[in-house]
Amino acid sequence: MKKVLITRKLIEENFINIQNKFHVIHNQSDKKLSDNDIIKMSIGCDGILTFPNNNIHADLLNKLSDSIKIIANYAVGFGNIDIDTANKKKILVTNTPEVLTEATAEVSILLLLGASRRAYEGRIFAENKNWEWSSDFLIGKQMTNKKLGIIGMGRIGRAVADIARGFGMEIHYHNRSRLPENLEKGAIFHEQLKDLLSQSEFLSINCPGGKDNTNLLNKETLKYLPDGAVVANAARGEIINDKDMLDAIRVGKVFALGLDVYNGEPQINEEYLKLKNLFLLPHLGSATKKTRIAMGERAINNLDEFLNKSLKPKDQVN
Ligand code: GLV
Repeated sequence: MKKVLITRKLIEENFINIQNKFHVIHNQSDKKLSDNDIIKMSIGCDGILTFPNNNIHADLLNKLSDSIKIIANYAVGFGNIDIDTANKKKILVTNTPEVLTEATAEVSILLLLGASRRAYEGRIFAENKNWEWSSDFLIGKQMTNKKLGIIGMGRIGRAVADIARGFGMEIHYHNRSRLPENLEKGAIFHEQLKDLLSQSEFLSINCPGGKDNTNLLNKETLKYLPDGAVVANAARGEIINDKDMLDAIRVGKVFALGLDVYNGEPQINEEYLKLKNLFLLPHLGSATKKTRIAMGERAINNLDEFLNKSLKPKDQVN
């Protein structure tokens, strides 16, 4: 049997399945493994099943045993893996697309609504039992019939657009390339990010993270947003420059911000935590049982296709 290291806990259903296919080294304690642990534990393994909070950087990849031929990431994003170095080491990398589209799109909408309707402040008032209905109490921004800008019109961005159409929103998007009409469904393409931002009363970030998209929202670009915009990021923390975003919130350029992902997570910029017009979640985008099982199955299938069946895995990204 081929041998596979699983760097964090897999949920039961997936764990049973993977044990039928591989000799498994499992980090059952779920404590974050150090680079050294990963290097040592993977000696003699053929593949590694990694998670989005494993930083598989160049130095770590260079120190991995030559027996490692595949890294199956349990996420659609793979910015946590240095693909250039993986290529040099001839390590194949896979992700888990498709299966988390709806779950993550739901969270994008939750962030937009939670931020725009001041859900966090509402909860605080409710808990403190010091509120009373009043005509101008906790007035938020209504999403219905507004313009929604989407950065990244891949599967998740398109699923966000589908839900937002139910709110009567006018959909605008920025993407590497324009979508065919059947996928665009009337959404308005903006080749330039600044053109998209200038239309975005509500903005949803759904593009990949990584080097190319780091700091996409910064001092320069944020100024194109209409005053009082609502922004949500369910993609990757590095896409937003936190300092510039905080400035934009403080001057009211951004009315409210919803975040599920963070620079350097699980750390969260302390300044964010001081602001009440932020609606924050701890990276829950794909966190439903159905989705997590499907992600696990997808990662296991990728390992199985490559290591046991000598096939090109379905979700190879490099
Ligand atoms: C989750 O964050 C993912 O990229 O799948």
